[in-house]
Amino acid sequence: MIKILKGHIIHTPTKERFEVHADSYIVVEDEQVVGIYKILPDQYNDQSIIDYGSSIIIPSFIDAHLHAPQYMQMGVGLDLELMDWLNQYTFMLEGRFADVNYAKKVYPHYVDALYEYGTLRSCIFGTIHDEANRYLVHAMKEKGLSGYVGKVNMDRNAPVSLVQTAERSLKETENFIRDFKDDSMVKPIVTPRFAPSCTDELLDGLGRLSVTYHVPVQSHLAENKAEVAWVKTLFPESASYTDVYVKHQLYGPEKTLMAHSIYLDSVEMELAKSAYIYMVHCPNSNMNLSSGIMPVTQFLDEGITVGLGSDIGAGHTLAMQQTITSAIQCSKIRHVLSPKERILSEPEAFHMATKVNGSFFESFGLIGSFETGYQFDALVIKDPSPIMDTLKPVEQLQRFLYCGWTESIQVRYLNGKNI
Ligand code: GUN
Ligand code: FE
Repeated sequence: MIKILKGHIIHTPTKERFEVHADSYIVVEDEQVVGIYKILPDQYNDQSIIDYGSSIIIPSFIDAHLHAPQYMQMGVGLDLELMDWLNQYTFMLEGRFADVNYAKKVYPHYVDALYEYGTLRSCIFGTIHDEANRYLVHAMKEKGLSGYVGKVNMDRNAPVSLVQTAERSLKETENFIRDFKDDSMVKPIVTPRFAPSCTDELLDGLGRLSVTYHVPVQSHLAENKAEVAWVKTLFPESASYTDVYVKHQLYGPEKTLMAHSIYLDSVEMELAKSAYIYMVHCPNSNMNLSSGIMPVTQFLDEGITVGLGSDIGAGHTLAMQQTITSAIQCSKIRHVLSPKERILSEPEAFHMATKVNGSFFESFGLIGSFETGYQFDALVIKDPSPIMDTLKPVEQLQRFLYCGWTESIQVRYLNGKNI
C-alpha cells in the first residue's frame, strides 16, 4: 500500500544540519519510506495525497531511558540526591507494583502520556515484578506503541519488598525474554538496575542471558559521585564502575545503553568508544538530582555514541522536546563556565532523540529518519500561533521543541500506520 503525505518535511540524516524539504511529498510503501520529492514522480500521479498544508512532518521521538513505574512520582522529592531519593521515595513506590492492580491503575496513564508527547518508541525499566511487567507490555501494545521493556533485576541493597534471590530474578528474566523476544512491537531488554543493587552472581547470570538470547542491555553508570565511590567499595576487585559491567558481559557484545555516565575516567572513556555502547544523556534528571552535567559535546567529539533519555521520575517530564532543549541548555552552561567546551547544536540534539536513539532499535528495522528504507515513524505538527505562516519550517520546529505544546501534534505515524 502506497501513502503520500505532503507538508514541510524535516529530519536529520546527519547531525550537522536539519534537512528541510519545504512543500514536499514523502512517499511511504507499506511501513517504509520510499523517498522525499519536491515534484511527485509520474508513477504516483493517480495516488491520493494526504495534504498537511504548512504543517511540519518530523520523525517521531524515541526515549532511550525511562522508568515506567516512576510516572506516578515525577516532580516529587527532587530536592534530594540519588541515593536518598531512591531510598526515601522510589523504592517504596516501586514496591507497590507487587500488586498487579496497582500497575493496572498506573500504566494506562503512562502509555497515554507517551503517546501524547509523541514518544512512539522507548527503552523502559519496569519493576522487579513479573505480572506488572507483563501488564506494561500489554498496555504498550494496546496503545500501539513500540519499545524495549526490561524486567528490573535487584538482589541486594534495597528494601525486602524489592529484592529477589539471584536465582528467581534470572528465571523470571529468562521467561520474560523467551515470551517476548520475537514480538514485533515490544521486545525484552536485560536490565540490571545498577551495579550496587546486584551481586556478582546475578550480574553474571544476566550477562549470560543477554549473550545466549542476543538481547540488548540497559543499566545506569556513574550518575552521582557518592554512587561511584560506593561501587568502588562494593566491587574492590574491579578497575572501575564500567569494569563491573565489562566483567559480566553486560557492556557488549550485545548493544548496551548506559544511562548518565557523567563521571568516567580516561580508561572508561576509551571503553565507551565501542560501537555497541550507547551513553544516554538525561539532562533533566541530572539537574533535578544535582548529579552533574555530562560533557556531551566532548563525548561526541571523541566518537562516543550518545543518546537522550527523559529518565522519568528523576526527570520531571516525558517530553523529548524538552529533553532535547535541556541538553542544549546544559551544554550552554558548561560552555559559559568552560568556554573551550562547545555548545550542542539543535540538529545534533534532535538527531540524538531520533536517529541515534533509533539505531538502538536495529532489531525493529531502520528507525529514526526519513531516508529510504526507514520505518515511517512520524509526527505531523501544526504551530498554533496566528503568525505561523510567517515562520520558516525550521522556526516552527524550534518553537515546538522549546515550547513543547503537545496539542500541536496533529497526527502520529508508527510503521507507516496512522495511530
Ligand atoms: N540508579 C539506580 N536506579 C535509579 C533510578 O531509578 N533512577 C535514576 N535516576 N538512577 C538510578
Ligand atoms: Fe534511570
